[in-house]
Amino acid sequence: MRTIAVINLKGGVAKTITSNSIAYILANQGYRVLLLDNDKQGDASRGLNRRTQDGEGIDRIMTTRHPEDWMHKLIKKTDFENLDVLPANMRLLTANQTVMLDQTRPQQYRIKNALECVKDMYDFCIIDNAPDINISTINALTACNDVLIPVEIDDNTGEGLPELVNQIRHTREDLNEDLENYWIFITKYDRRNEAQRQGLELIQAAEYPMLKTRIRYSRKVSECTYARVPIPKYSPRSLAAKDYEDLVAEYIAKLSISGGEA
Ligand SMILES: Nc1ncnc2c1ncn2[C@@H]1O[C@H](COP(=O)(O)OP(=O)(O)O)[C@@H](O)[C@H]1O
Ligand SMILES: [Mg+2]
Repeated sequence: MRTIAVINLKGGVAKTITSNSIAYILANQGYRVLLLDNDKQGDASRGLNRRTQDGEGIDRIMTTRHPEDWMHKLIKKTDFENLDVLPANMRLLTANQTVMLDQTRPQQYRIKNALECVKDMYDFCIIDNAPDINISTINALTACNDVLIPVEIDDNTGEGLPELVNQIRHTREDLNEDLENYWIFITKYDRRNEAQRQGLELIQAAEYPMLKTRIRYSRKVSECTYARVPIPKYSPRSLAAKDYEDLVAEYIAKLSISGGEA
């Protein structure tokens, strides 16, 4: 199983739309996919119509000593073949407070240990994250092989990227030698917008590892969140859906070049 964490310290950059889209596309290609919702807002779970107000999910995984007893109970099937979800809701807030107060065992390996229990059931795990560096995101970085960083071009595009890249490097050095790659890529792109074109040049000049596929702005995307269906399913002909297909193809090609395997 290959694990991808989708992270950016900023909100609204399309982390959740990206997580649900690439999870759906990989599942539709026949890979067995687990989407792990690691944000207390539960937007990724809601996007697959599997959010509940008070059901357990990732919150239990963060606090239990025995994830092997829980993972199979907590993972939900979705309406889409090959795609399961481990949901989240506001319970994650108190769970994380409990983790922070727990001095008896390591705090960073909770997700990694839990994924170990299901690694033969899935080819990919996609982790959607909150716009933060907290114990949840550190757990995601400790559990993943690749980090995808969606970037929206606006008047403070690069904000938080140096801090995030430092965190990725430190996690690789201290906690997770399997963390192999990180890439930024552009979301919500509108090439007719002159400010966006200039912003793109600035972010390219910063020389972060970058996937060349840009996800174009599509009005259909906001509709798909209300329909609770990932955009590549809701509107396969929308620009954003086509671009997410390309993004997945580019990512898979990078893996075969670098020798990584699903
Ligand atoms: N390619 C796109 N085109 C148009 N709107 C988009 C696109 N990607 C995301 N959005 C919109 O941007 C907002 C934030 O997306 P979301 O995935 O929830 O961001 P995050 O998880 O980073 O907070 C949502 O309203 C979503 O509909
Ligand atoms: Mg989100």
